[in-house]
Amino acid sequence: MIASQCHTVIIAEYSEKKVVDMITDVEFFRIVNYVKSNYGIDLSQKKVLVTGRLDNYLARNGYESYSDFMSKVENKPDSKEVRDLIDNLTTNHTYFMRESEHFRFLKDIVLPEVKNSLANTKDLRTWCAAASTGEEAYTLAMIYKDFFALEDRLWDTTVLATDISTRVLEHAESGKYLKEQIEPLPDVWKRRYFRSVGTEECVVTDELKKQVIFRKFNLMDPLPFRQKLHVVFIRNVMIYFDEETKNNLVNRIYDMLVPGGYMFIGTTESIDKSKTNFKYVRPSVYRK
Ligand SMILES: C[S@@+](CC[C@H](N)C(=O)[O-])C[C@H]1O[C@@H](n2cnc3c(N)ncnc32)[C@H](O)[C@@H]1O
Repeated sequence: MIASQCHTVIIAEYSEKKVVDMITDVEFFRIVNYVKSNYGIDLSQKKVLVTGRLDNYLARNGYESYSDFMSKVENKPDSKEVRDLIDNLTTNHTYFMRESEHFRFLKDIVLPEVKNSLANTKDLRTWCAAASTGEEAYTLAMIYKDFFALEDRLWDTTVLATDISTRVLEHAESGKYLKEQIEPLPDVWKRRYFRSVGTEECVVTDELKKQVIFRKFNLMDPLPFRQKLHVVFIRNVMIYFDEETKNNLVNRIYDMLVPGGYMFIGTTESIDKSKTNFKYVRPSVYRK
């Protein structure tokens, strides 16, 4: 292609792409308030993140301004626009065996205790809150399978895993991961719980998928459990909430645990001990 033709093509492509108006302060705080009041996530200091993640989405979907988009969001609570907003603005980073000291503590301390104390019911209730793409919940399920081994069939150790982002939940349910993502797992787990799909991907086996139920749930809503829980993993999500929202959630989790139940938070997170009845067990592990 000669230079002048090439130039014409570039100009044509450029002019087809919609350009979104720059976000105004009013528009930015409209998004901040919406996300904070509905999902607890505090984006007030995250203007670059918000525009970095939404500019292209708005342009691709034909919006001329942030106001145009936010009017749709605010008028339709269960709409695709709201789902897209959440999918774009949540941070979903996670990986298998993340903060592995928690899984070691679970296997060495919590599960032997539970095996004794729940010997009659054999019903271990675990909630993996803010599960993102599922690596954390599947790791829990593999730990349980390993620990209960031959007695596994006698126990109900199903993990309930929740998140607000539809996109990550769909990914989690598919159980598909890149082979390099499961690399840190023990070989015996890789062979037992994953099936190869093509050269680069693998998928969680049906046996493991049955151990995890994924559901959409907003942590700002009343907790949806009929029975009290034994173990709650709520890691690396409360960093996005302000202190009041976090204290309120921690206390609702406390009420939802059986006496002696455990709560695990992210290893870089902390809770205000003066605002809760949780007993400190070790860094990032608490007990009712
Ligand atoms: C960084 S990931 C943490 C994943 C996993 N827990 C871990 O530690 O690896 C945070 C997750 O919290 C979810 N989240 C944020 N606000 C939420 C809310 N109000 N209700 C439920 N999930 C929320 C996000 O969608 C995201 O997937």
